[in-house]
Amino acid sequence: MMSNDKIESVSPHVLPSLPYANNALDSVITANTISFHYGKHHKGYIDNLNKLVAGTKFAELTLEKIIAATAGKAGKTAIFNNAAQAWNHTFYWSSLKPKGGGEPPSALKKKIEVDFGSLDACKKELAAAATTQFGSGWAWLVLDEKKLKVVKTGNADSPLTQGMKPLLNIDVWEHAYYLDYQNRRADYVNAVLDKLINWDFAAANLLKK
Ligand code: FE2
Repeated sequence: MMSNDKIESVSPHVLPSLPYANNALDSVITANTISFHYGKHHKGYIDNLNKLVAGTKFAELTLEKIIAATAGKAGKTAIFNNAAQAWNHTFYWSSLKPKGGGEPPSALKKKIEVDFGSLDACKKELAAAATTQFGSGWAWLVLDEKKLKVVKTGNADSPLTQGMKPLLNIDVWEHAYYLDYQNRRADYVNAVLDKLINWDFAAANLLKK
């Protein structure tokens, strides 16, 4: 048996590396925002989670399993919130890329055209979800059963707990944009969709089992 001290010092969840330099999204999201968002907020969720699960039955579980085991459970809100936010943020960094936007890979583009009518209609739905999410939360492109959909979630909530497969997400917590855009959330969202969104990541997620 490891002591609690030992478990805590080798906490299983680590902050994943950013998939690009922290100034790589500078035309839309500054290095200043990334340094707080990744280095303080995302890191904070992981550090908090490691403290909350140390010595508990959740200590050996993956983020996905913790999220599934704690969603909607009384008394487990803090663990759920930190685990889901850790997962949501890792997913968000990969949902963006330098010189993103543009056209999705052809298989994804065809599916978008079937399910939304056009790429533009899909982007408009994502922008509407992101700008109308009241308070903190996320906009998501998901696969629900066999259909692509746009959904929004509040705070830490995740489509994973509703049986949907996330393809990409956009963080609309104020910490994601306030230093660069202040209250202009729509400007941040539209710039992300036009210049950063990583359709390759969404296409790869679509193919995952
Ligand atoms: Fe965030």
